[in-house]
Amino acid sequence: MTPFVDIGSLDDIPRQGARVVKTAGGCVAVFRTAEDDVFALEDRCPHKGGPLSEGIVHGTSVTCPLHNWVFDMNSGRAQGADEGRVRTYPVKVQGGRILLDASLIRRNAAA
Ligand code: FES
Repeated sequence: MTPFVDIGSLDDIPRQGARVVKTAGGCVAVFRTAEDDVFALEDRCPHKGGPLSEGIVHGTSVTCPLHNWVFDMNSGRAQGADEGRVRTYPVKVQGGRILLDASLIRRNAAA
């Protein structure tokens, strides 16, 4: 079973917004959709490194703020004609708290 760490309240993230969690291995963008689903993606677009946390959330997708590539937040895959994939991380909401895969933070801290 994946161990999780509490990274804050769901209410800290506006709907269709994101917040950035800094780990030793890089920044993780945690998104909240209009339906209160939560996704965690590497905060770095595979195209040219755009900050996905500043992108536009629509449905379960996010559009990169730099050149408008669209990523499915479930799979991390670019949609449409664009080729690429961003890393996704296990995340869940329990009792209004956001829980992120702890091994991610530990693994990055150890690297
Ligand atoms: S850097 Fe994201 S689309 Fe170009």
